[in-house]
Amino acid sequence: MKDTMNEVDTEVAMETAETPMIEIRGLTKSFGTFQALKSIDLTIAKGTVFGFVGPNGAGKSTTMSILATLMAPSSGYAKVDGFDVTEYPAEVRKRIGYMPDFFGVYDQFKTMEYMHFYGASYGIPKQEREQLIPQLLELVNLSDKKDAYVDTLSRGMKQRLCLARCLVHDPDLLILDEPASGLDPRARIEMREILRELKAMGKTIIISSHILPELAEMVDEIGVIEHGQMIAKGNVADIQNRMRVKRILSIRLIGRTEEAEHWLREQPFVNRVLRDERGVHVHYGGHDEEQAELLQQMIGAGYKLISFSEGQTNLEDIFLEITKGGEAIS
Ligand SMILES: Nc1ncnc2c1ncn2[C@@H]1O[C@H](COP(=O)(O)OP(=O)(O)O)[C@@H](O)[C@H]1O
Ligand SMILES: [Mg+2]
Repeated sequence: MKDTMNEVDTEVAMETAETPMIEIRGLTKSFGTFQALKSIDLTIAKGTVFGFVGPNGAGKSTTMSILATLMAPSSGYAKVDGFDVTEYPAEVRKRIGYMPDFFGVYDQFKTMEYMHFYGASYGIPKQEREQLIPQLLELVNLSDKKDAYVDTLSRGMKQRLCLARCLVHDPDLLILDEPASGLDPRARIEMREILRELKAMGKTIIISSHILPELAEMVDEIGVIEHGQMIAKGNVADIQNRMRVKRILSIRLIGRTEEAEHWLREQPFVNRVLRDERGVHVHYGGHDEEQAELLQQMIGAGYKLISFSEGQTNLEDIFLEITKGGEAIS
């Protein structure tokens, strides 16, 4: 009870300090009897790059469509910069640039015409557009394609064009649904660089992916969604702490690896043990003292260690860790 009170207090204090860019509370969405979103809560501060991660069908696109005012929630609410998406959709649309996970491209257009079409649909005067559009094409590295037909562009270029299109009305929030999907590594790097520039411009960005490492270097915070529930959120370090997966210990030994695997599972602070041809790998939540003790015990138990190494966990490990049971963490 006390914890709940504290949480509420903190939230009120945050809101008076600065309205978050995104505030979602108890958001649900049903399609017939199927519940695609089961009470999502999410707060994203201004200027944050937020990675929204989860397997296909988890509910990422549904959440993003609701934020983009394209779909009504079944219950709960979502606010963008303090504006409820259902009550003030026009205010919300002014503030967001939404990039859907499918192309709504108009192939008969040339790149430049396509941008003018979108600029005009936001009521931006021609003179202003003539200044702005070359700048946007420059930002997404498409200046040399300004006279090319859209259908001749590569997938990566089309993605970047869609991104430029989202930016015509200078929105504060970018909602990007799987912008890196289907891109080759080089195109992904380009996309990442553009996102960096946008962050430096002060934009808040929510970006989804079903592939965690794709987002690893671009985001400040991550939220993991599965079966319509947020199962973890926070900065990467927080999630690591929450999961008590601080380190990965890799141990090579002579023989008895399977036995060692079982032995390790019984030891304190050991969250998970994996075994492959290189040895055993332990997701470990203890500190130096406990770790030293563990090694001593292991040697004491007669295991012959060839080598022992320690590494930080990466996002992929965390993702596997938190989704392995498919159960929500509260
Ligand atoms: N318009 C719709 N009608 C019925 N079911 C839908 C509709 N849109 C999404 N769903 C279902 O809701 C779930 C979440 O979908 P979605 O938000 O697209 O997931 P994600 O983007 O994480 O892959 C999926 O099971 C999907 O089949
Ligand atoms: Mg999706």
